[in-house]
Parts: sequence; C-alpha cells; structure tokens
Amino acid sequence: MSAVMQQQQGAATRTDPFLQVKDIHAYYGESYVVQGVSFDIAEGEILALLGRNGAGKTSTFRTLARLDNPTLTDGEIWFNGLPLHKMSSWQAARAGIQLVPEDRRIIPGLTVEENLQLALVAPGHGWPIERVYESFPRLGERRKQEGVTLSGGEQQMLAIARALVRDVKLLLLDEPYEGLAPVIVQEIERILHGIRELGITTIIVEQNAIAALRLSDRAVILDTGEVAFEGSAKEVLENADLRQQYLAV
Ligand SMILES: Nc1ncnc2c1ncn2[C@@H]1O[C@H](COP(=O)(O)OP(=O)(O)O)[C@@H](O)[C@H]1O
Ligand SMILES: [Mg+2]
Repeated sequence: MSAVMQQQQGAATRTDPFLQVKDIHAYYGESYVVQGVSFDIAEGEILALLGRNGAGKTSTFRTLARLDNPTLTDGEIWFNGLPLHKMSSWQAARAGIQLVPEDRRIIPGLTVEENLQLALVAPGHGWPIERVYESFPRLGERRKQEGVTLSGGEQQMLAIARALVRDVKLLLLDEPYEGLAPVIVQEIERILHGIRELGITTIIVEQNAIAALRLSDRAVILDTGEVAFEGSAKEVLENADLRQQYLAV
C-alpha cells in the first residue's frame, strides 16, 4: 500500500483495536454488575481478566458474548469493526466470539464427536474435526464415548475444541483450570500455549492468576464491576502487593 493510500485510509481505521470495550454497563435485573468497564485488545493478544470472586468477570464475558443476561444497558463493544453491542448471541458467535464457559456445557447424551458435530450446525467453521483429533489425541481415542463421562481435563479439552471447530476470532476462556489437578492444569496450559502460537486473540479468566499471567501479554483486574488495574502481565506477576490487594493470592 502506498503512503498516500495509508494516509487516506486514516489512522483511525488502521489502528483501531481488534476488540474495544467502551464503558459498558450491565445488569441482572436490578443488580448492577458491570459498572463502566473499558479495555482494548489487539489482534493476536492474550489478555488475563482477573479479580476476586464476584468481581464481574463472568458477567463481562456473558456481555461480550451477547447472552441475554446480564443486560447491556450502556456502552459500546466494537469487534473487528463490528458493533457487537447491537448484536444477539448468535450474531456474536457468527462474528467469531466463542465463549468456553466455566461449567463447560458438554451436552449430555452426546458422544465427543456428536458434541463437536453439533457445534458445526451453525454457519462459520474453523478446524475440521480430524484436526481436533490430531491435536487432542485423547479426544480422538474417546470420540465414541459420551462427552459427560470424560475426565474434567478431557471435558475442558472438548469445550476448547468445540470453540476451535467454529470460526473463532476471539476466544473467551472462563476458568479453564477450575477443578483440575495440577498435572492436568499443566496439560491444558500446554494446549493454551499452542493456541497462543496460532495467534487466536484470547481473554482468559482464572482464579489461578499466576498461570493465567504466564500465558498473557496484558492484564485487566476487575473489582466490584470496575477496572481497578490495566497493565502488562509482567507487572502483575512482579507485583505481589497488587495481587494481594485485588486477587488475594
Ligand atoms: N444470574 C445472576 N443473577 C443475579 N446476580 C448475579 C448472577 N450471576 C452473577 N451475579 C452477581 O453478579 C456479580 C458478578 O458475578 P460474576 O460476574 O459471576 O463474578 P466473577 O465471575 O468475577 O466471579 C456478583 O455479585 C454475583 O453475585
Ligand atoms: Mg466467574
């Protein structure tokens, strides 16, 4: 592109963040849980979204994924040039937002493979299922097994794989290490480092802040529905006082 064209295109379009969360407010009924949250992410970046229990992390994720609750009442969310704040959950999914929820939501009565196939019913496809089995051999071995009978770590793999078979552009991971033994956490961590290498823009929410920060470029800390800190992951890793104040770890 010539310098003139770059100039004409303007700094605003070329330097806009991949995801721009602008002063969002959200409620569960009367309960005000996301109280003016703003942050940006560049394409390919990994952001750790941290904070104590009840700080509003899951609510922020649900708002980004445009789920019905909590209800976004004010603010804007721009994603890849699109007004996410005006979208429904299925439109957000189509735009590439993939939420891997804390409870993993493996569908009972369906095998591993059927769980993956179900994710492919909607338009917008990413990895072929064969690629999932190559990258996650344990899922390949258990493809005919009912998904909910997998171990916790395997269910987490399946939940992540389900996002990868979709055309994921922004991966939202809610407490991926929760309830897993340390050795399994390490295995999921390796998978997430692999996803990082693929350049998939990711936000990770984790009580295990240290593990999340090791994976991340930047960190946002929420406190009672507001941003209390925004900076590099390294800053939070090196600042025990900050972690003590907002994360109590
Ligand atoms: N379905 C809900 N209805 C009403 N309040 C909720 C609901 N889910 C969460 N909350 C409240 O919203 C606040 C933020 O919760 P949440 O986003 O789940 O926090 P985090 O994920 O950081 O632990 C908390 O005060 C919590 O009690
Ligand atoms: Mg939560």
